Formats: sequence, structure tokens, C-alpha cells
Amino acid sequence: MDWIVETRDLTKVYGDGAEVRALDGVNLTVREGEFLAVMGPSGSGKSTLLNLLGALDRPTSGEVYVAGERLAEVRNLDRFRSRTVGFVFQMHNLIPTLTARENVEVPMQAGPIPRRARRERSEALLAQVGLAERADYLPAKLSGGERQRVAIARALANQPRLLLADEPTGNLDSASGAEVMTVFRQLNQQQGMTVIVVTHDPAVARSTDRIVALRDGRIVRDELSENPYLEDLREFRLSALGQALLKGRVPEAIQGMGLESLLPAMQSVLSRV
Ligand SMILES: Nc1ncnc2c1ncn2[C@@H]1O[C@H](COP(=O)(O)OP(=O)(O)OP(=O)(O)O)[C@@H](O)[C@H]1O
Ligand SMILES: [Mg+2]
Repeated sequence: MDWIVETRDLTKVYGDGAEVRALDGVNLTVREGEFLAVMGPSGSGKSTLLNLLGALDRPTSGEVYVAGERLAEVRNLDRFRSRTVGFVFQMHNLIPTLTARENVEVPMQAGPIPRRARRERSEALLAQVGLAERADYLPAKLSGGERQRVAIARALANQPRLLLADEPTGNLDSASGAEVMTVFRQLNQQQGMTVIVVTHDPAVARSTDRIVALRDGRIVRDELSENPYLEDLREFRLSALGQALLKGRVPEAIQGMGLESLLPAMQSVLSRV
């Protein structure tokens, strides 16, 4: 089975008097290496779903399997959470008195990694999210987007297989939000990390590969999102350069740059969009 996440009839009911059916029979499967967005109006059950996938809460009924484990049977949920899943929330929750690097090291402190290796690892993680130069900064000296990227590095501290993010761009301006999404995309493409992002923002959702929409605790839509580059490629095909390449010609002005050898590939891509 190559599912990293599978839910069966997952249901969560809050309260006992006036009951709220936050999730109502959700069947969701996610393959290892997928990058997906969970959308839906406020109160539709997005955070509830994410919390159940990350074992932050228990379902009322139904099952959750993550990375081959049936969560109801996992004895040590703390260990499961710290090893298998990484969480990123809307509020980054960095410790204000610790530097970016020290914040990233916090989750490693429970494990067996020696001090020096922890330091190296947290520096490598910060470099991965584009913050090598900011390792010694306190959170207050970082921008909102940078803080959120530190939070992503921290979520990666124990090499989780699954990254769960609840509105990670919710407090950010669109440029910082795009940077955060780029980091997720890179982790997904370069390391095959499975990433599930809850978002209200359709633009954020479109930058993933698959959109699952919830309404009243049920999945009402589950579809692959269109490749975000497709529109750009279509526009490029209509340009003078795109037209020339499509016809198998490299315009004189840019000859001799090595494009000739790429021509067949470019022609083939442009003829398919
Ligand atoms: N701890 C709780 N106790 C009681 N009801 C809750 C609790 N947590 C969530 N709910 C209710 O469950 C429903 C789903 O909540 P959830 O937080 O999953 O929604 P959401 O889709 O994440 O919304 P938002 O976009 O506003 O974050 C809502 O009606 C909410 O009021
Ligand atoms: Mg929520």
C-alpha cells in the first residue's frame, strides 16, 4: 500500500448537548509524495481533519492510518507525533527568547542527537528554507514570512514523512505567503515530502497538486489542480519567441546560446499546451 494517509468514515462530534458534527464520514487517501490543499468555508472541519491526521485529537468514530500505523493502536502518540508528522500553524509559535537556530533545535532535544549535530542539522534546515543568513536572529528581528519559514524548518527537525500545515499563510501578505508555498513545493519536489496545507486562499490552493474541499464536515470536491505553469506556458506560446520555437526555429537574436539542442523538447512542450 502506498498510502501515507488513509481515513475511513472519519467522524468527529464535539459537545454532548448541542452536538457539532465537525467531520462526518470522511474517506480520504493521500499518496506518499502528494502535495495537497484542504479548502472549505470556516467551520467546515478543516482544522479538525488536520488535527486528527496528526493525532492531536481523537476521532469519535472511524479510523485514521498514517504511514502504515492505525492511530487508534499507537501506544506512544507523543513519539508518533514527533517522528512521523511535522506541524506548521497559522501562528508560528516560535520561542521569542531563542534564535532561529535554537528554535529549530527545540524538537531535537528530546531525541538522541548530540549537541553539535543538532546545531549542524538546524543550520542545514534553515539553509533549506532560505534562511542560512538569519540563523542567529531572534524571531522579533525576522519578517512574518521568515518566521513562518523558521517554523517550517522546526517542523522538519525530526525528519517527518508528513507535513501538516494549518493556514500557514493566513497571517502573511501575499508575497511572503508565496515564499512559504515555494518552500513547501521544494520540499515536496526535492525530497518527496508529503505536504497537506489547509487554506482559505484559492491562489494558495492552486499552487498545490490536488484540492480537497470540505463542507459541513464532508468532502464535496477532490480534484487535481491545474499545473500552475500551464497558463504561463500558454501565454508564452502566443508570444513571438514562443511561436518561433513552436515552428522549430531559434530567432537570430538569440542564436548560439545553446537553445538549438533544446529545440525538440521545447517544441514538444509547446505543442502540447
Ligand atoms: N473543541 C471544539 N469544541 C466544540 N466545537 C468545536 C471544537 N473545535 C471545532 N469545533 C466546531 O467544529 C466545526 C469545525 O471546526 P474546524 O475548526 O475544524 O473548522 P475549520 O474548517 O478549520 O474553520 P476555520 O476556517 O474557521 O479555521 C465548527 O463548527 C467548530 O465550531
Ligand atoms: Mg481551522
